[in-house]
Amino acid sequence: MDKLIIEGGVPLHGEIRVSGAKNAALPILLACILPEGPINLSRVPRLRDIHTTLKLLNILGCETTFEDNKVKSVAGDIQTEAPYDLVKTMRASVLCLGPLLALKGEAKVALPGGCAIGARPVDLHLRAFEKMGATFDLDSGYIHGKCKKLKGAEIHFDFPTVGGTENVLMAAAIADGDTVIENAAREPEVEDLANFLNACGAKISGQGTSIIKIEGVTSLKGCNYTVMPDRIEAGTYLVAAAMTDSELEILDCPFQELDAVVYKLREMGVWVHEDNDRVIVRRHGQLKGVDITTQPFPGFPTDMQAQLMTLMCIANGAGTIEEKIFENRFMHVQELVRLGANIKLKGRTAMIRGVEKLTGAPVMASDLRASASLVVAGLAAEGRTEIQRIYHLDRGYEQLEKKLSAVGARIWREKE
Ligand code: EPZ
Repeated sequence: MDKLIIEGGVPLHGEIRVSGAKNAALPILLACILPEGPINLSRVPRLRDIHTTLKLLNILGCETTFEDNKVKSVAGDIQTEAPYDLVKTMRASVLCLGPLLALKGEAKVALPGGCAIGARPVDLHLRAFEKMGATFDLDSGYIHGKCKKLKGAEIHFDFPTVGGTENVLMAAAIADGDTVIENAAREPEVEDLANFLNACGAKISGQGTSIIKIEGVTSLKGCNYTVMPDRIEAGTYLVAAAMTDSELEILDCPFQELDAVVYKLREMGVWVHEDNDRVIVRRHGQLKGVDITTQPFPGFPTDMQAQLMTLMCIANGAGTIEEKIFENRFMHVQELVRLGANIKLKGRTAMIRGVEKLTGAPVMASDLRASASLVVAGLAAEGRTEIQRIYHLDRGYEQLEKKLSAVGARIWREKE
């Protein structure tokens, strides 16, 4: 396994270009099961999860190629089983349920199981498909779904689930009749999936709001599409600049989609300026602690919680973070404490008291965004930080150490 070494305390300077959004590319790739004819995707990030998804697409009967951040996919004879040994490595594989039920009337997908940050159930997905006419049984760890022909329905989500909204969008695109999703997820990545499906001939409206209407069509056709840039990767670089008291230019930065994050950074005293498609960020002296509660979009994103916590560790004063989306998303706290942070946990709320500085030490990555928080901590910590198990990081950040060393960070990868 690889580890990352960081010699901290070096100010950064220059430009970083944001890659395509992992959480848009994953559902868009699985939606490639639906259309007849070739699909050409651009700005697909080279990530572990993307390779896993392409493997799943191949198992399900799609021919794919992937080079220079471009994916070409053509659906062949579609199979209906997603195997456990693949699904257990990436729970987003459950997003193949919708396309398979809609196209083939059957899907056998391994129950994804939990992950470090929580149980991650899919009950809301299954309830929605039952309303559309599917029936499910759970047989030796597999969800086995069947339906004659999925029918449009009125779906109301108890919680604006991102994956649930995406699964239903893909299924409803070619279901019989119209579907309305109420309390739909409003995340930009959901919108990107809907825009991709419309480019393939679907009839979806309202994406980005909490009520999405889908008029079922008989079939979809191939198209060319460019995946949106990754707002969480971009937000991570904004925090890296603030941590190291640097000035960075972030290119292809989805600024609008980072509203809640930019608002909190400015509240802490970080200077963020948008100039066309580039965002300039720099820190102005002391930072101050703030209070954050993670919410569904457009609220503060849970995927930026660990990174903002790291920044609050070196702010002047105290702040709190309440994690309301996942039940166990504080795995980075004890690792940050190893670097000298002062953080106390009470249930799903963290109280962070700023310290003078962090000091480098060996730490362990536990999940994707926790790993990112340890990287930005290491950039600011005095001395050497070693981050083990960085396969978590490779799931969601394309060439992170290359992009950071290109702006002056002393960061490199070593075999563990
Ligand atoms: C997506 O996960 C993202 N993953 C997550 O990003 C992100 O943190 C999350 O949305 C919230 O924004 C991808 O897009 C691949 P949810 P997803 O369904 O779809 C509960 C990252 O770091 N829930 O909105 O799983 C669930 O347990 C990853 O890039 C149910 O109870 O998120 C959780 O507490 C981490 N039943 C909450 O809702 C369900 O049927 C949010 O889940 C579905 C969800």
